[in-house]
Amino acid sequence: MSPLTHILTTAGRRAGMVLTAVHTRRHSSLTTELIENMDKKATWDRLYTENSSRTTSFKNFEWFFGFDSVQDFIMPFLQDESHSESLLQVLDMGCGTSALGPCIYRHSVVPVQVTCADISPVAVRLMQEHVRAKAINPHHPSSLLEFLELDCTQLHGHYGCSSLDLIVDKGTTDALLRSREGRGKASQVLRQCLKVLRSSGSLLQFSDEDPDARLLWLETEGQEPGGMAADVRVQEVGELRGVCYYCYHVTPRPVEQ
Ligand SMILES: C[S@@+](CC[C@H](N)C(=O)[O-])C[C@H]1O[C@@H](n2cnc3c(N)ncnc32)[C@H](O)[C@@H]1O
Repeated sequence: MSPLTHILTTAGRRAGMVLTAVHTRRHSSLTTELIENMDKKATWDRLYTENSSRTTSFKNFEWFFGFDSVQDFIMPFLQDESHSESLLQVLDMGCGTSALGPCIYRHSVVPVQVTCADISPVAVRLMQEHVRAKAINPHHPSSLLEFLELDCTQLHGHYGCSSLDLIVDKGTTDALLRSREGRGKASQVLRQCLKVLRSSGSLLQFSDEDPDARLLWLETEGQEPGGMAADVRVQEVGELRGVCYYCYHVTPRPVEQ
């Protein structure tokens, strides 16, 4: 197994906290280095570049799991027939090279504009090339799919207040929270999400972090004086390779003065 595969497999399984004995000291220090820097664009550019150079044909990389495991949590948010005239705005935040965004675009019965955004231009370019070559057809003819290089700590610079219906985050906040300098960025991203979501909108975070820790973090960090607060619920997604995964459902609520 190449260092990259191992890094990604291990990191994806448990944020890279467990290493197998077969790996050399060099690999484990490289892994530690990468895991501690999962908030950095350079880390992801390198990972996606190495990953794509290993094969001639493109393959989506999925953190934790793919669309099939989470579609029952996502698709119920995309059934509002009153939106038949306008596009529901969906953001896959930190999309990487996951097929999640394209799958939402393909399966949504209501018209959606799915934006897959990532800080890594390499991931964005790989996805753009992939969908151009594969020509994915949406369920609804008006639906749109786009890929965007964007630092999601600056979400509010790109989207207006109350402009998104659904934000999906599979592993992105986890990556930030586990990085040496990423916790502040994770809080920033959460607050930006609460700003750009409509009052009826939702943020879904898929994570392996225990509810005892994540619920408290979401409730505390989502609160901004004079701004928004986060109402949070949690559901179990299920167990995979001995790890339990959760869906944190966050909705914005204005803080009463
Ligand atoms: C753990 S991976 C998850 C990728 C993808 N969501 C999946 O399920 O496979 C985290 C992703 O977040 C991206 N990322 C990290 N910091 C970011 C930021 N500030 N803004 C946007 N994307 C970011 C990384 O480039 C990486 O693709």
